[in-house]
Amino acid sequence: MSNTQAMQPQQPDHTALAPDVRVVSREQFGQARVLVVGDVMLDRYWFGDVNRISPEAPVPVVHVQRQEDRLGGAANVARNAAALGAQAGLLCVVGHDEPGERIVALLGESHVHAHLERDPALPTTIKLRVLSRQQQLLRVDFENTPAHEALLAGLARFDALLPTHDVILMSDYAKGGLTHVTQMISKARAAGKAVLVDPKGDDWERYRGASVITPNRAELREVVGNWKSEEDLLARVTKLRTDLQIDALLLTRSEEGMTLFSGDGVLHTPTVAREVYDVSGAGDTVIATLSVALGAGLSLQEGVALANRAAGIVVGKLGTATVDYDELFQ
Ligand SMILES: Nc1ncnc2c1ncn2[C@@H]1O[C@H](COP(=O)(O)OP(=O)(O)OP(=O)(O)O)[C@@H](O)[C@H]1O
Ligand SMILES: [Mg+2]
Repeated sequence: MSNTQAMQPQQPDHTALAPDVRVVSREQFGQARVLVVGDVMLDRYWFGDVNRISPEAPVPVVHVQRQEDRLGGAANVARNAAALGAQAGLLCVVGHDEPGERIVALLGESHVHAHLERDPALPTTIKLRVLSRQQQLLRVDFENTPAHEALLAGLARFDALLPTHDVILMSDYAKGGLTHVTQMISKARAAGKAVLVDPKGDDWERYRGASVITPNRAELREVVGNWKSEEDLLARVTKLRTDLQIDALLLTRSEEGMTLFSGDGVLHTPTVAREVYDVSGAGDTVIATLSVALGAGLSLQEGVALANRAAGIVVGKLGTATVDYDELFQ
């Protein structure tokens, strides 16, 4: 997906610019212990040739020659944290099926510690794309809400994992894995841990008490409505943060970069992307990098500077959607 228009970002007029990126040692990053909780999914691609139309229905017949699997959702977020060299754990529910096993294997390759609850009745969330000559012909989704028992077991496992992690990252893709998110947030905050949330949907009451929430423009609009100016945006975000007792909101604004709203005021960071090839998953990279930075002891402002840099790198990549330590600090 190329997007050359994104090369001329419009920058909103803001009071402060982000500080320069502070170089952090590899060891310091390696000490960050991030626990990702949320909805995991598998992105699967089937590539093949089409040589005929089906005799059964007027549809092409694809002869599949190759399959590619990638971690998606919360698993992609965890993979991003691990790629930076952090200790990344992932707590989520999967089914007892082949896609679930595939996720386990890919998490292992990505050096993510998997803490998976199994729900035998659940089809592991998978998004299957059928492609021929770079054209997507069809997408097939399998998903369902995890069973109550698996979610409760996940909550108990969360309690056990809390003491050995510094930062908790909630990656919500509205598949039901975060049914107990409110309780998890209050437990984590009571234990003195930072909690970052990548939200979904219009009910943010469930994220009450989080440290940082990282919506994109559409996600924020769903909750606070359309803003008419930057002042109006600030007023709406301030009210939201106060109502929900959320310390900071990082609005990711695609080609406009990102804006941090916190008790310290407003900090705008223009994008540093030079080439934009594939923007999908950039939000995952942002929250993963910010979490690792906070886990490594950086300030929120320093973390945002790093997250912005990571996002600028990842949108320039095709396929792989992670940034490693060397790329971030080179
Ligand atoms: N078109 C673009 N041009 C330049 N930078 C971009 C572009 N799209 C994304 N970015 C960078 O990536 C960050 C996150 O992107 P965005 O706001 O689109 O998140 P998102 O919608 O949550 O992404 P996704 O859900 O696909 O992972 C932006 O703040 C910016 O730094
Ligand atoms: Mg997103």
